[in-house]
Amino acid sequence: MSEIQGKVVIITGAGSGIGQATALLLAERGAKVVLGARRTERLEALAQRIVDAGGEAIYAATDVKRRDDVEALVNLACERYGKLDVFVNNAGIGPISLFDELRVDDWDEMIDVNLKGVLYGIAAALPVFRQQGFGHFVNIISTAGLIIKPTMGVYAGTKNAVRTLSEALRQEAGDKLRVTGISPGFVRTEFADSMTDLEVKSQIVERMEQMALPPEAVARCVAFAIEQPAEVEVGDIVIRPTAQGG
Ligand SMILES: NC(=O)c1ccc[n+]([C@@H]2O[C@H](COP(=O)([O-])OP(=O)(O)OC[C@H]3O[C@@H](n4cnc5c(N)ncnc54)[C@H](OP(=O)(O)O)[C@@H]3O)[C@@H](O)[C@H]2O)c1
Repeated sequence: MSEIQGKVVIITGAGSGIGQATALLLAERGAKVVLGARRTERLEALAQRIVDAGGEAIYAATDVKRRDDVEALVNLACERYGKLDVFVNNAGIGPISLFDELRVDDWDEMIDVNLKGVLYGIAAALPVFRQQGFGHFVNIISTAGLIIKPTMGVYAGTKNAVRTLSEALRQEAGDKLRVTGISPGFVRTEFADSMTDLEVKSQIVERMEQMALPPEAVARCVAFAIEQPAEVEVGDIVIRPTAQGG
């Protein structure tokens, strides 16, 4: 039987892209998925699709900028399924731009969603994981933090902050909890919709159209990390299109 069978997995940002593909794959492989994002109509449709296919899924309106929302999502999982095996910190946005543009509101937004949102996920799930004596954080990072490019400074900064805190969390976690970071390159999702600088957005969309991976490729990485036996921790995965040089 797959190690994924029966696992209770929270996925933030589950309404589209990588989160949605991950929810579908894990549910197909027997996980009970708990979906969080702001647009509940998306989550409702996805949960229905999973249930119609014979899987298990529940959802709750979740804005990861709100600590209460993230805690409520963890409580929902625990109340409904009696445990929490995995928290996938996936929700993220990328309104990137040159520093000279001074799009400070976008900087704030990226810090709030990409960094503080992940911290709220940790704050909500870590006590549950400690009490249970098992648990797994899967944090979706980015290759934008590995090769830093113009316009990507703040976005990469938030992602590398998550890379840094993931390593400290891994060391503090001890021998019962697991921490995985997954850094995707270009993935064909709705990610560019969050971009407010239209010139930068069109450049990114063009590169995505040229070479982006399907989100299912990243979902397979999440599944790989989760399906390992409890004593095997997959630390970091980098996955990018073969054609992505930088
Ligand atoms: N696509 C890429 O090329 C790429 C590359 C590297 C890393 N990533 C990372 O992959 C992750 C998923 O992105 P994606 O590419 O799948 O993009 P996406 O299709 O835009 O999905 C992002 C999801 O996050 C949710 N979200 C946004 N703000 C939120 C908030 N405040 N609270 C809760 N959920 C929120 C969105 O749903 P709602 O708007 O309904 O809340 C959406 O479902 C992000 O962390 C991103 O940084 C993407």
